Amino acid sequence: MARVLLRGRSDVVGAMRPSFPQFLARKLADRDTEFPRRMGPRETRALLSDSSATGQRQFSLLRRTLTESGALHLTGIARIDSPERFQSLLFRLGLVTVEYRGGLGHRVAGSKSGSNRVYSASDEPPEFTIEMHNEKADTPDLPDVISFWCEVPAQAGNGGETVLLHSDSVLDRIDPAVLKRLEDKKICYWRRLKHKREAGDYLSWQAVFHTDDKVAVETYLKQRQFSLQWDSNNDSLTYWNVISPTKIHPITGRKVWCNSIQSHHSSYYSVHPSYRGASEHLFTSFYGDQSPIEDSVLQHIREASWSGAIGFQLGRHEMVIVDNHQVQHGRMAFQGPRKLKVAISKPWTFCGKSVIPSD
Ligand SMILES: [Fe+2]
Repeated sequence: MARVLLRGRSDVVGAMRPSFPQFLARKLADRDTEFPRRMGPRETRALLSDSSATGQRQFSLLRRTLTESGALHLTGIARIDSPERFQSLLFRLGLVTVEYRGGLGHRVAGSKSGSNRVYSASDEPPEFTIEMHNEKADTPDLPDVISFWCEVPAQAGNGGETVLLHSDSVLDRIDPAVLKRLEDKKICYWRRLKHKREAGDYLSWQAVFHTDDKVAVETYLKQRQFSLQWDSNNDSLTYWNVISPTKIHPITGRKVWCNSIQSHHSSYYSVHPSYRGASEHLFTSFYGDQSPIEDSVLQHIREASWSGAIGFQLGRHEMVIVDNHQVQHGRMAFQGPRKLKVAISKPWTFCGKSVIPSD
């Protein structure tokens, strides 16, 4: 299989620099633990087989294997052939899916049932490469687990690789002085969302918060310690918050690189087909004191991230389950058909606090 070129690509921000990694790795030599951990039909069956009514044993097994590796790649599950079965498999694993609200990804609900949710993985244009990020890392209550299921795989040679990046791979590569500066100053995530009548291709605040009710939006944001401002001229919403680029993992207690610094930065949107050439940026990231993050720091983060990332094609009806605290995900641009679904879950935190059940 041909290697995936990175350096020189116009759809990957920063890739024109000669110091940029040349190829996307399929496997990393510097990681002892298999990443992602590949589980065939037998192992997947073992994960699912449990006669107890509570499913406690498989939940514990899932938690242990997922925490050890950071991501699981489930293969040989051809019977998982619909979004409903994907959702039901997650439920059997103890991963009750939750609503994707307040996130800045372009995605629509593909299946709804009670409190469970399955969405299109991304409705971003296919020619756009999605930089690695922890899902909703710009919020204080990010999901614990994000799961992807492949409905229609990309054809060989057409791109669309799923990209994963383990926190350890970044922390091993990032300049300690840069890390200290980012941790000392923290990150300010800033957004401006237009009213739906003016949003065009952009996300409106109604689409992000699933409501037309401004009071409901304010309540949601204030509960999560965001600052916000409405523009009375055009009903656009500006909101921002300051959080650390690293966090303590709720299970391992280890420091993890968990953020979306570069994928929230305006430089990322400069190559986005819908935002290219825009006179104003709707999202960006600053240091916590709202001073700009230097281009050299962004470039360093991008090079450290891409050189530590791995990418692979998901096969039909295969799944990837990702520990969202310690692993970032992304997607290479693609051509032709490709369809993935996504679901997010919060089995071990509530409002940012650990609620891990005992085994
Ligand atoms: Fe994402």
